[in-house]
Amino acid sequence: MARTPGFGVDVGGSGIKGCTVDLRSGSLDDERVRILTPQPATPIAVAEVVATITGEFGWHGPMGVTLPSVIKRGITYTAAHLDPSWKGLNAKSLLSEYCQVPVVVLNDADAAGLAEMRFGAGRDSDGVVLLLTFGTGIGSALFVDGELVPNTELGHLQIDGIEAEVRAAASAREDEKLSWADWAVRVSRYLQVLENLLWPDLIIAGGGVSKKADKWVHLLECRTPVVAAALRNDAGIVGAAAAAAEGRVR
Ligand code: BGC
Repeated sequence: MARTPGFGVDVGGSGIKGCTVDLRSGSLDDERVRILTPQPATPIAVAEVVATITGEFGWHGPMGVTLPSVIKRGITYTAAHLDPSWKGLNAKSLLSEYCQVPVVVLNDADAAGLAEMRFGAGRDSDGVVLLLTFGTGIGSALFVDGELVPNTELGHLQIDGIEAEVRAAASAREDEKLSWADWAVRVSRYLQVLENLLWPDLIIAGGGVSKKADKWVHLLECRTPVVAAALRNDAGIVGAAAAAAEGRVR
C-alpha cells in the first residue's frame, strides 16, 4: 500500500505532540516528538513549540493542529487548559505564520473522533456515535451518520451541580487517588446523563486513559455499548493530519 503522508500536532495542557502520519492506514509514520507545553501557554509560546516540532520533521505541506478549544473558522473562542489570551484569536493565521505552512485548526476531541471514525473503533459505524476523551478535562466529539457535529463541549455539562469534567476526567481519578471502580461510578453517572439526552448508538472511550481500558471500561454501567478508542493517545495527531489533508475548516 502506498504511503500518503500528512502531519498533525496535538496541543494539550501538559504536552504538545506531533508526527507525520500515514493517511492510508491512520498510523504514525515516525517516532512522535513531544515537548512540554510552555507555561503560561500563551499563543506565541505554543506557536514556537509547534514550529519547532514542524521543523524537526522538515514538514512543508498542509498541517493540522488541535487545541483544547472551541474553534470556528480558525478562531479559538475558548481556552480550557491554555492561557486565556487564546480567546478570540485567529489561531490559524498565527500558526500558519510561525510554521510557514498551511494550517487547519480544530478541537482536540473532534480530531480524535475523526481519527477513530476513519481508522479506529468507530470505523463503518453509522447512527449517532459519541467519542469522549478522558484526560485533564473531558472532550467530546459527536457524529451523525459519520458527519461530525463540531465543538460539542459535553465535558462541561453540569451534573448534580458539578461540571462533569471536574468529577469524571482522568485527572480527577489521579488527583483524588480514586480506585478504578470508584472512578467508573462517576463516569457511569456521566454516561447515563449523556445517553438520556442524546441516545447514541455507540460510545467510544478515548484519551490517554484508554491505554488502560481493560481496568475500567468493563466496569461502566450504561445501556449504550462502550468501546475503547483504538488509536489510544495518537488519535489527536492522526485526526489533525486527516483534517488538514482534506482541508476541513468550519
Ligand atoms: C475543553 C474542550 C476539550 C477538552 C479536552 C475541555 O475542557 O473545553 O475543548 O476538547 O477539555 O481537552
